[in-house]
Amino acid sequence: MSFERRWADLEPLGRAAGGGYRRYAWTSEDAVLREWFAGEADRLGLSLTVDRAGNQWAWWGDPDADGPGVVTGSHLDSVPDGGAFDGPLGVVSALTAVEALQGEGFRPARPLGVVNFADEEGARFGVACAGSRVITGALTPERAAGLTDGDGTALGAAMRGAGLNPDHLGRDDEALRRISSFVELHVEQGRALVDDGSPVGVATAIWPHGRWRFEFLGEANHAGTTRLADRKDPMIDYANAVLAARQLAMGTYDAVATFGKVLVDPNGVNAIPSRVRAWLDARAPEEVEVLGLVTDLAKAAAAAGALVAEESWTGATEFDADLSRRVATAAAEGLGTSRMPLLGTGAGHDAGILAAAGVPAAMLFVRNPTGVSHSPAEFAERDDCLAGVTALTAVLRELAGA
Ligand code: GLV
Ligand code: MN
Ligand code: MN
Ligand code: MN
Repeated sequence: MSFERRWADLEPLGRAAGGGYRRYAWTSEDAVLREWFAGEADRLGLSLTVDRAGNQWAWWGDPDADGPGVVTGSHLDSVPDGGAFDGPLGVVSALTAVEALQGEGFRPARPLGVVNFADEEGARFGVACAGSRVITGALTPERAAGLTDGDGTALGAAMRGAGLNPDHLGRDDEALRRISSFVELHVEQGRALVDDGSPVGVATAIWPHGRWRFEFLGEANHAGTTRLADRKDPMIDYANAVLAARQLAMGTYDAVATFGKVLVDPNGVNAIPSRVRAWLDARAPEEVEVLGLVTDLAKAAAAAGALVAEESWTGATEFDADLSRRVATAAAEGLGTSRMPLLGTGAGHDAGILAAAGVPAAMLFVRNPTGVSHSPAEFAERDDCLAGVTALTAVLRELAGA
């Protein structure tokens, strides 16, 4: 199996000096990753197509003539200073599983596809799972066209710079029609599998979650000569919102809430800020909990003069029960075990966006010994990764078999 070779080839791409990854959509790093994916597809004799959002699909067989097909894969982009596994593990495992099936002389009864979804993390343009949201229509072409990065570069311009045509961004029925089922393998981003003592599990549900932009406005002024009583300092309102989010999540609601990104203008040590923009990520097992928290927080912030806007929302997602059962059974058989843990997760995935659009979808998780993710410390043992490949291979054999 060439898991090792693929992993070693991919590992240096987009790694920053501190050890974490900065693999952002439609950058030069991303172009190298997309080229890597196309090269791997070519080595396996798969034919590459690119959909209206720029997602890459590598097909074994012809999904138009003989489809719809069974698809697996994940994403190659990262959060700022992300880990090596979130996304790439699913892509490398998918390619390796296809290679294993080819090697054993398997003849798929329906086409098999491997996908590399564009911009899953939304690290650059703010909307998570942008590639899958665009093709399912969850992100409209109008909203997609209006997205800009921190430097003011529009999504369309960034895509054009990467050699893609952004003029047809939008729901892509042709791409969707080719999928009979989608199975995404992903590193676990928590500790359920460690606690369970299992290398692989099946994710059955994703918590409702979303992102909101808070804009606190003030007046820039001198840090030394402006009396405290005369200040309009938006940093104070921002700080109050951070504390309120924490208190609401710990007390009133059963939720988690995070301000992980903040931009301060003018960002000078000796200047009172004129503006603070901050992004809230809020999630909960129940929609009423997360929406209650955000409503309370937005009310308090608005009372202090802040502007609050929703940037993305993903409702509670249940994966296809029949497909999940088949996946669990096939994975267990492949691993020679009688037990396959079923898990829920607070992390978002393209599989969830496809599921919400009515595509039968399921997920396999691979154990993460510390549960740490979205950090360079993210990790999975090599034996567990290989168990994931074995499980995925068995799943594809079952789903694409006669
Ligand atoms: C994506 O990884 C997310 O859930 O934030
Ligand atoms: Mn992630
Ligand atoms: Mn991911
Ligand atoms: Mn994710």
